[in-house]
Amino acid sequence: MYLTKEEEAMLNGERGETIQKCMKVLVTLGELYGAKRMLEIKNVHSPGVSYRVTGDAGLNYVKDASKNACFKIPTTLNNVGIDMHRWKELGFENDFAQKQIELSNAYKEMGAIMTNTCIPYLNGNVPMFGENIAWGESSAIVYANSVIGARTNREGGPTALAAAITGRVPEYGLHLDENRKGTCQIKVDIDLESDTDYAALGYYVGTLVGREIPVFTGIDKRPTTENLKALCAALASSGAVALFHIVGITPEAPTIDDVLDKEVEIYNFGKKEYLEAFEKFNYKGDVDFVVFGCPHATIDEIRTIAALLENKKVKAETWICTSHQIKDLATQMDCLSVLEEAGVKIVCDTCPVLCQTLNRGFESVVTNSCKMAHYVRGLWNVKARLAQVEDCVDAAIKGRLE
Ligand code: F3S
Repeated sequence: MYLTKEEEAMLNGERGETIQKCMKVLVTLGELYGAKRMLEIKNVHSPGVSYRVTGDAGLNYVKDASKNACFKIPTTLNNVGIDMHRWKELGFENDFAQKQIELSNAYKEMGAIMTNTCIPYLNGNVPMFGENIAWGESSAIVYANSVIGARTNREGGPTALAAAITGRVPEYGLHLDENRKGTCQIKVDIDLESDTDYAALGYYVGTLVGREIPVFTGIDKRPTTENLKALCAALASSGAVALFHIVGITPEAPTIDDVLDKEVEIYNFGKKEYLEAFEKFNYKGDVDFVVFGCPHATIDEIRTIAALLENKKVKAETWICTSHQIKDLATQMDCLSVLEEAGVKIVCDTCPVLCQTLNRGFESVVTNSCKMAHYVRGLWNVKARLAQVEDCVDAAIKGRLE
């Protein structure tokens, strides 16, 4: 693998032991995947920053790194394991919270941008089309690759850390033109309206195609940011999709010929397939917990939920997960007061999947996100229901959903 003089110096330990360790990780990875050289990158979104994921081993690794190195390029952080400001009030345990704070402080010392969100692309980390980056968090990776047209492989905590410290990633996988073409086609012949509709599409297709690169045709109406966010999250939860194209909509797919240059398998997505995702998560009855904001809620989603809850009260425990930046915006727009009066908790920096395990005896979860339904059912063994946002709000108010 070709290395520049500076990269050689990093690898030989001339820039310090921590940088050397990071370079070794990246060179090993590059050699494993047949990379010919390193790429200089401009930004990182780091996953694996929740103490729930790192445990003590990861915490010590990051703390050690923070003593001798700092981030060379802007690096935003994914969801952590607690709401950093309100963890006590929200019932997170002290011991867990202290470990999380230690971990977050180590990242801060290295120069991390403390976004604590899985939607960095709406919180100040917006790469350019064609830019090589190193991102983790499965839903954000799909968004960066597909919607923005930036280029990233699925980075884990250690490789993202190494990339942030060295400013390099090995050139392989989705950094290369030849690996970004579609490998199957999905003909959509149903109108998709809501975020949950797009989540249903993503969930069905993720299950069907696993790690492939689907090319969607038949989506004529331009999806919103929230529609695409839901699609990305679902594709990466039932499957391991890291890139998709929508012909006529996403930037690498002005025409089908731009993204499909060979015969591929063609699948249909119509009414029957659409209903499959809802059938998978079809719990009916009393509702303990309603969750919005997977991926983290945008200001528009929060505004919609606030409008539906004006002068009402929720009966079920109800969370909207988002970033603290978006919560500030919601405060300024008076959405927060409406939601708090209704009894909703705005939980920042984290989500039920990445926070301290907090199944407080919940038996049923209702959500508008396929990713959330998929994971909480697996993690907590609860009954899950996927529903449109209006039905989720109704379930929150009544504590029941038929
Ligand atoms: Fe984000 Fe947590 Fe969902 S990281 S995508 S809110 S599972």
